[in-house]
This record gives sequence, C-alpha cells and structure tokens, in this order.
Amino acid sequence: MIRSIVRGNGAALPRRIMKNADFEGMVETSDEWIVQRTGIRQRHVAADDETTASLGEAAGRAALDSAGLTPADIDLIVLATSTPNNTFPATAVDIQNRLGMHHGFAFDMQAVCSGFVYAVATADLYIRGGLAKRVLVIGSETFSRILDWSDRSTCVLFGDGAGAVVLEAAQGTGGIADRGVLAASLRSDGVHKEKLFVDGGPSTTGTVGHLKMEGREVFKHAVGMITDVIEATFAQAGITAQDLDWFVPHQANKRIIDASAKKLGIAEQKVVVTVDLHGNTSAASVPLALSVAVADGRIKKGDLVLLEAMGGGFTWGAVLLRW
Ligand code: UT7
Repeated sequence: MIRSIVRGNGAALPRRIMKNADFEGMVETSDEWIVQRTGIRQRHVAADDETTASLGEAAGRAALDSAGLTPADIDLIVLATSTPNNTFPATAVDIQNRLGMHHGFAFDMQAVCSGFVYAVATADLYIRGGLAKRVLVIGSETFSRILDWSDRSTCVLFGDGAGAVVLEAAQGTGGIADRGVLAASLRSDGVHKEKLFVDGGPSTTGTVGHLKMEGREVFKHAVGMITDVIEATFAQAGITAQDLDWFVPHQANKRIIDASAKKLGIAEQKVVVTVDLHGNTSAASVPLALSVAVADGRIKKGDLVLLEAMGGGFTWGAVLLRW
C-alpha cells in the first residue's frame, strides 16, 4: 500500500522575542504567574513585514531544503492557519506563488490549533488517493494580530511562527513497521464554540475581531478529549503508549501536556515540550515542536511519533506516524 512518509521538515520564527517580563508594564501579570500556570517563558511576535504567508514560505523552504527538493517537486500545498493574510484568496496560494510554483494546487485548512494534525491527515488521504505525490504541509500563524493586548487572560498565552513537513508517497507493506502516517483520528464539536472563538469575521461583523477564551472551561475539557482521541488512534494502529518513541503534543499549556501524558502512561522523557520557547502558536505549534526535536537529534528516522492537538471549535485529533 501507499504510505505518506516524512521526507523533510522545517520551521520559521519571527525575529522578535517577547519575554514574560515584557508584559509586566502592559497588563497586571507576572513572569511567575505565567510560568506556573502555563510553562510559557517567551514567545515570538511578528513585525509588520512578517506575515502568515512570509513565515509559512520560510518554513516551507526550510522543509524543502531538508528534503533535498525544490518547489518543482511539490504538487500540493496544504496550509493550516486561522490567521490568513487575507480573507481570500487562500494564503496557501500566496505561498505557492512566493515559492515560484505555478503548477499543482494549494488550499488553506481551518481547524485552529488542530489545523496541522488535520492537514497531515488530509495530505495523507490526497497521497493515498493518488491526487498528489508530494505535499508540503505547513502550519503558520500570526495570532499576535488577533489578540486583545489589554486582556491578560489571553494575550500572554499566544505566539507567532510556522513549521512544515514534506510528505511523499512511498510503497509500504501496510504494517506498523512502515514509515509514514500509520493512523489518524479527527474530531470536532461546535457546541463548544463560545469557549474559544474570535468575535469578528467577514460574514458577521465585517471585522477581523479578537480572540476570546474561557481558559478554565477549555482546560476542563482538554485532557479528556486529547486522551480519548489518542486512545482511538492507538486502537486503530494496534499499539499501546509503551510502543511510542515520541509524543509531540499541541503546545498550549505545560499542565495540560503533563496531565495528558500521565493519563496515557507516556513517560516524561518521551514528551516534546516547547511551550516555554514559543507559547501557543496554534496550528504552528506541533510542527515547531517537531522541528526542535528533529534538530536536536531526539526524533530520528524510524521512530514512532504521536502528534496531537486540541483547539477552537472545539476541534481535536491525533496522528501516529513513523518518522
Ligand atoms: O490552544 C487552544 C487550547 N487552549 C488551551 O488549551 C488553554 C487552556 N486553558 C489554560 O491553559 C488555562 O486555563 C489558563 C492558562 C488560560 C488559565 O489558567 P487557570 O489555572 O485555569 O487560571 P484561571 O483562569 O482559573 O485564573 C486564575 C486567576 C484568576 O483570578 P481570580 O479570579 O482567581 O481572582 C484570573 O483572573 O488568575 C487570573 N489571571 C491572571 N493573573 C495574572 C488570568 N490571567 C492572568 C495573568 N496574570 N496573565
């Protein structure tokens, strides 16, 4: 059977780093509160000339370089984002043009923080369905543009950035020893809309709007939803937590990551944590975490890796792959 294997990966971050202490004069908060409640120590914030498209392009180029490929080798770009450069056209098409790619096709995928997990699962289906041979999957966000910078309960949590992988069709046996995407589970439930949303949009207010979150409510649902969808993914693949080499969760809050890993019985040393460095970068968080763990030599070819995310909608999901 056809498998979608990871041929390369990359990342891009805005130049400016904002430390927790930098918020202290802006809103009533402290480095101590932010670190204790979230694990976040710093985040990158985009300058005017840094956008979802420019960061996505840079991450895409880095992924292509690591794969030893050029844009000519790609036939589909899937961009996961909730902060597109424009309402339309899709920012993926902008990135396609920036890469000098005038063949193939590109589209955006909107599943907020679960966007990258949804995009990998979708790209895998395009590859296995024969519509694409090599897909550039990007998660890119500039959440700094939709934050209410006077709301301490949200503005300290998010950051900007982008990460990408190149998925490529390869022959597999259909077994768990294959490289590539092995199983995926996706969920959504709109009943939770009001707990995490942006209060604007083209068809309602005609404005971009600002992020609103009932953090405690999101927190309450997060661990159960994450662990359920991961257990469904394990069952699909016929594996247990002990078989995993690496757990690469969505980076929203260190306490959610720790509680999920504990409930699943995943050893602490197998968990990739980058929330301290990037904050919550929504659809970019999982590929950014991947890029750190690949660059420092933790994730190696052949390792069994579990990706997971949960966010606005709610949406949530998991992808199991062998790197
Ligand atoms: O990526 C999408 C998924 N999103 C998430 O997973 C986020 C999930 N939620 C969370 O991570 C946490 O709920 C937060 C980090 C947002 C908040 O942590 P918490 O432990 O749930 O705190 P809380 O909301 O219960 O607030 C505790 C207190 C409140 O004060 P009172 O009511 O106890 O007097 C808040 O007003 O902390 C206050 N607070 C702050 N204090 C200092 C809220 N934000 C801040 C702040 N600095 N930045």
